[in-house]
Amino acid sequence: MLTTTPSLSADLSSDAPGAQTVAIDLGERSYPIVIGAGLLDAPASYEGLPKAATALIVTNTTVAPLYADRLRAALQRRYATVHAVVLPDGEQYKTWETLNLIFDALLGQGCDRKTVLFALGGGVVGDMTGFAAASYMRGVPFVQVPTTLLAQVDSSVGGKTAINHPLGKNMIGAFYQPQRVLCDLDTLDTLAPRELSAGLAEVIKYGPIADMAFFDWLEAHIDALQARDRSALAYAVRRSCEIKAWVVGQDERESGLRAILNFGHTFGHAIEAGMGYGAWLHGEGVGAGMVMATELSRRLGLVDDAFAARLKALVQRAGLPVVGPVLDAADNAGRYLALMRVDKKAEAGEIRFVLIDGPGQAVMRAAPDALVREVIDASCA
Ligand code: NAD
Ligand code: GLY
Repeated sequence: MLTTTPSLSADLSSDAPGAQTVAIDLGERSYPIVIGAGLLDAPASYEGLPKAATALIVTNTTVAPLYADRLRAALQRRYATVHAVVLPDGEQYKTWETLNLIFDALLGQGCDRKTVLFALGGGVVGDMTGFAAASYMRGVPFVQVPTTLLAQVDSSVGGKTAINHPLGKNMIGAFYQPQRVLCDLDTLDTLAPRELSAGLAEVIKYGPIADMAFFDWLEAHIDALQARDRSALAYAVRRSCEIKAWVVGQDERESGLRAILNFGHTFGHAIEAGMGYGAWLHGEGVGAGMVMATELSRRLGLVDDAFAARLKALVQRAGLPVVGPVLDAADNAGRYLALMRVDKKAEAGEIRFVLIDGPGQAVMRAAPDALVREVIDASCA
């Protein structure tokens, strides 16, 4: 449970009215998460970033036509040369081959070790750009400019970077922190409804694991969030980032506490991998995965029927699936179990689940295969 409510630091001096920052405190790797409207164009958004001759924007074919020119114009005030590389769009492209396109651009343009990378896009672009920044010339600075709700509330914060492997999601990567995160709320206006819902999954997760007052708030404001009410979105992004910053500040490399951020992800990653990357959105897998993890918690006696029903109802109201897909008609539970055994939290083949140990508190533990099979059988169609 979050015993100390993390507080907001003072507003960052910014050209964008009403921008706020959440500080992520990691000693020399500390950085601000700036949240507000109009950040993309505001010169103050870029003040104080590392000095360099060159910047490289990494984006994708969907986001580039929407926002790349504006980011380029802003960066040209600070960097003599601004290059861009446009990746194919989709989770199925979160691969070595696509990562190599970033290295091709960096080397092809003669980018030096001071070059600053800007990840403009959702979590796929952010995770790949971060991994490229961690490894190019053994590390160059990078800035996250997340343009999906999911990326603003989760993936751009905390320094996890990765690509997928056919045998497991996010299996190859590095911990590498950005210099800054710029969450421009205006960019959420162009997001597809399905993607907005996927982002809401990662917002919802923060309630059961850390802050039931936030869960209560979400129950009251889920329709406003679905309708993209600006002040509701601003609060949801800010509160999510505060909780994530609080967790990551204590356990940057996931030696313990940070694993609670993976609530719903063990089942969710199995769904994503089992369906083929890109078929189910990450947030959709997390949505159904949270329902399954809560059902497992309920069957273990950790939460009551009423809490399990509340969680399922909120996930459903967010426009997310609450039932998992059948991955194997012959042995569905067996297929889920096999996929979950390659989860990063598994130890010696034993699956470790993030469960809810009373609303507002998470616990990591194993569960008997027979019980997990019962949950899967009852939760998939
Ligand atoms: P995504 O990056 O695939 O973006 C979703 C879709 O929205 C894409 O088609 C994208 O091009 C499009 N898009 C992005 N911004 C847009 C905008 N403003 N307007 C219109 N379209 C826009 O998916 P995502 O949900 O952002 O991220 C999912 C990824 O994040 C997964 O790979 C997941 O593993 C990863 N992730 C990482 C962490 C972490 O801590 N590093 C945490 C959670 C998720
Ligand atoms: N999204 C989980 C984490 O950052 O640890």
